[in-house]
Amino acid sequence: MKKTNVMAAAVLACALGGAALAGCSGAAETGPAYNPGEPPLMTASHEGRFERLGAKGCYGCHGVNGAGEPMLAAASPLPADHYAGGDTASREIDGPRTECLTCHPVAQE
Ligand code: HEC
Ligand code: HEC
Repeated sequence: MKKTNVMAAAVLACALGGAALAGCSGAAETGPAYNPGEPPLMTASHEGRFERLGAKGCYGCHGVNGAGEPMLAAASPLPADHYAGGDTASREIDGPRTECLTCHPVAQE
């Protein structure tokens, strides 16, 4: 299922289930709704970057600038769910997502 469908299903489930369903108050913090899909590996050029730069360094190329474009045009933009509140306008990475390495290990050549 595509991410948008998962989100739509979650919203629908919340609407139908109402208060009986847990986790309807906001963005899911864990589980498939929080982390849909397969995280791509960091390319080999990224070896050691997380250790040196941390999440802020990643943001410097992959995050959005004021115009909503990635800082570095060649870098794949962070998905919206990587931002606080699921909103790119926050220009801040969502808490657990700052540990990029747990989901995006560096590809081995
Ligand atoms: C100097 C700019 C720069 C920095 C800093 C940077 N990246 Fe990248 N990243 C890129 C570019 C450009 C690409 C496109 C592929 C390539 O050239 O390696 C890329 C590719 C990726 C990919 C693969 C995306 C895909 O679509 O397959 C991932 C995952 C990734 N970066 C994660 C990170 C993480 C995590 C960090 C922080 C540790 C980071 N990047 C830091 C520029 C950067
Ligand atoms: C909890 C796991 C998790 C963490 C932590 C995480 N990501 Fe991701 N990331 C994913 C998943 C899953 C996808 C692909 C599905 C999606 O679009 O959400 C993804 C997609 C991406 C993409 C888009 C790649 C493309 O091909 O479009 C980039 C860039 C990226 N992540 C960078 C980062 C950076 C930088 C960090 C740390 C600041 C980070 N991620 C932390 C799970 C994670």
